[in-house]
Amino acid sequence: MGSRIEKAIPSDAAMLLEYLKQVGGETDNLTFGPEGMPFSVEAEAEFIANMENSNDDIMLLAKCDEKIVGCASLNRLPRRMRHRGDFAISVAKDYWNKGIGSQLLDNMITFARENDFEVIDLQVRSDNKRAIHLYEKYGFKKIGEHPAFFKISGENISFDIMCLILL
Ligand SMILES: CC(C)(COP(=O)(O)OP(=O)(O)OC[C@H]1O[C@@H](n2cnc3c(N)ncnc32)[C@H](O)[C@@H]1OP(=O)(O)O)[C@@H](O)C(=O)NCCC(=O)NCCS
Repeated sequence: MGSRIEKAIPSDAAMLLEYLKQVGGETDNLTFGPEGMPFSVEAEAEFIANMENSNDDIMLLAKCDEKIVGCASLNRLPRRMRHRGDFAISVAKDYWNKGIGSQLLDNMITFARENDFEVIDLQVRSDNKRAIHLYEKYGFKKIGEHPAFFKISGENISFDIMCLILL
């Protein structure tokens, strides 16, 4: 199974919004469910276009036979937090455990180093063992825990706060 990693381009917008609905429905690990993200194709395309030549924000896609099977983003924080970036990742369920998440994260760390990020931050459900394993493999450390980061159907969901120091 050959997948390749590339930067998102505006013409990916429609497929990306469909992909987000799919992965939103596959787990309760993301900030959204099967409804996906509430953006029009035009707005999503503009959002991607604004990142195209940015040193602050990037969206990487994993594609397999021209289909999006994974997505990761890094967004630089503002002002006194500019040395830090927030990281998010998803891979379609049929493609888990095939190294795609590792490829996305590896590429993202390279971008972060090349663009002088000093810290990559992320938050992950405390019971998301696969994701935590992936992050620890790349050197992320748990620095705290939030007892009610998500509330799903009335249930508080605990998250680990993790970061990777690149200095
Ligand atoms: C987390 C996620 C991005 C990982 O992507 P992936 O493509 O499956 O990742 P990889 O195949 O590169 O690596 C998975 C690793 O987890 C390991 N793993 C799998 N199941 C595991 C488990 N139950 N416990 C611990 N480790 C596990 C695999 O062995 C592999 O480790 P290795 O590289 O040392 O062999 C993907 O599962 C996903 O998108 N999940 C749903 C959305 C999500 O949780 N996103 C993260 C939000 S913070």
